[in-house]
Parts: sequence; C-alpha cells; structure tokens
Amino acid sequence: MKNSKPSSFKQAVLIIAPVMDYLTEKLEQNFTVHKLFDVTDTAEFFAQQGENIKGIVTRGDIGVTNEVLASLPEVQIISIFGVGTDAVDLDYTRERNIIVTTTPGVLTDDVADTALGLIIATSRRLCQADKFLRAGQWPHSSLPLASKVTGKRLGVFGMGRIGQAIARRAAGFDMQIAYTDTAKIESLPYQHVPDLISLARQSDILVIAISGGKDSVGLVDKTIFAAMPNHALLINIARGSMVNQDDLIRALQQKEIGGAGLDVFADEPNVPQALIEMDNVVLLPHIASATIETRIQMSDIVFANIQAHFAGEKAPTAITY
Ligand code: 8YV
Repeated sequence: MKNSKPSSFKQAVLIIAPVMDYLTEKLEQNFTVHKLFDVTDTAEFFAQQGENIKGIVTRGDIGVTNEVLASLPEVQIISIFGVGTDAVDLDYTRERNIIVTTTPGVLTDDVADTALGLIIATSRRLCQADKFLRAGQWPHSSLPLASKVTGKRLGVFGMGRIGQAIARRAAGFDMQIAYTDTAKIESLPYQHVPDLISLARQSDILVIAISGGKDSVGLVDKTIFAAMPNHALLINIARGSMVNQDDLIRALQQKEIGGAGLDVFADEPNVPQALIEMDNVVLLPHIASATIETRIQMSDIVFANIQAHFAGEKAPTAITY
C-alpha cells in the first residue's frame, strides 16, 4: 500500500487502550494520534474520524473488537503491544487484508522470569511469609513449612519461545523437565509427553505457556486438575482463557491441587473473590512483561511497525496469516 501524501501530512493512528507514555509520545511526534480510551461519545467519534484512521495501536491483552474495526473502514495495520493475537479476530482481519504485527522475542525473558518467580513464590509461600512478618507475627508464632523447588518435576505446556526460556531457567534448579506441544522438538533435551493429561499426571509443577486463541480456550479444566498430583502447582503466565477458572477454584478448594501462581485471569482485571481469599495462591495483575527495559523495547517495535508501514515499507514483525 503506497501512501503518497505531502511530507507534512500525518497519518491518523488510534490507540485503543493506554500504553506507556514513551510510546504515546513517539507516536504523537509522527502521527495524528487519537485515543479511544479518552473518547466519551464513540458513535460521534467514529462518525467524525472513522474514515481517517489508518493505523491502530493496541495491547496484547486488549486487542480490538470487530465492532470497532467495522467503524474504521480504512484501517491498514494493527500494531499490537505484546505477543498475543488472541484478542484480535484474525479471520476477520485477514479478510480485510489488515496487517497485524506483534512484539516477539523482547518479552520472552521477562515472562519466563515471572514464571520462575511464581513457582518460587507459590512453592515457598513467599507472599504469605511477607504478610506474616509485616503483621508482626514473627515473634509470636511460626509459619508452616513450605515445599522445596529444586529438583521438582516441571511440566511445560507449550514449548515455544517462552516455554523454552522457562525450561532453561528451571534446568538451573535441577528440575526434571517435560513438555507437551504439538510435536517433539528434536533439538531439546527435555522429555516430550504427547498429551496434556499425561503431562499433568507426572508434574509437581505445571506451567501454561501456550499461545492464546480460540483453539486453546478452557483446555486446562477439571480433567487436568483431577490428573495432577494433590500437591501439584498450576502456574499460568499465558492467558486466563486457557484455564476453566471455576474448575480451578473448585480444584483448589477441594485440595485436588496444592496451589496456583497466576499472572492472568479469565476476565481481567476482575479476579474472583474465592481466589483472593485463598492463601495457597499467588496472584499478579498481568505484569509478566512489565519491566521498563522490556516495555521500551516493545514500544520501539510497535512504533517501527507503524512507521515502516506508512513509509511504504514492510512492517518488520507482521504475523503471517
Ligand atoms: C502485555 C501480553 O502485558 O504479550 C502479550 O500478549 O499480554 C503482555 O505482554 C500486554 O500486551 C500489555 O498490556
């Protein structure tokens, strides 16, 4: 798509949900930026601006609805701040020839670090211990013993970039690593287990690291929790949609599993009270990639995609449909 406009002309870009100021400012210096999250009358906004908007910037966890896209007939590119494309209907964007880009690679380490953080915090009950100390209980009582991390059997569901980064870190804890993915990856030294239920059965810690999307909704449900050992932990740094959250709550309440470390939830930012009240879970507000260093790199990629596209070049990290 060529965009032959005078050099002073700025393409209109719509930001769906707040992103870091660094990115917003960079976009504002180069484009006419609209912010959907600041718009009070969306119908009026789409009537006025709908045909002008050529680019969209959104977050992986938020995406953009088909309803919004339907009001933006001229959109050429959606630049996602994140790696997840599950909040965008790719069948619909493909049909409309809309380019979709993500920020692959740069957040892998942070997400894997967070997974290990959740494993340790949940197994060793670090958050509870912190609460115990702050509540002034240390001089008066003692905490129950926690569970060892080193040497545990780790099951990784999804051996992509992030799954592999988690496995590399877990190897440093002498864990016995197994994984389930669509096929065995010959170059990896870990045990391939063909199905999730068998992986669940043999894991002390089960980490979900598959990509989101309609094929993965509810894959981790009561059959998986029933297969997990009673002491086992579920760690989720992927998407809340993959876990049947009601089944998870029941499994935790009935002590079918030992605990959970969760960075993602079914209906963010809403977290069920039942989970909040449990002391064998560690709950994070979707912060796995939330470091300054990584978010700057993600911002640069989001910007580079938009800029390249409107300069008539190929967006560097466009997904292939
Ligand atoms: C971000 C994500 O938290 O990469 C993703 O898909 O969900 C996360 O890295 C999110 O996109 C930014 O809010």
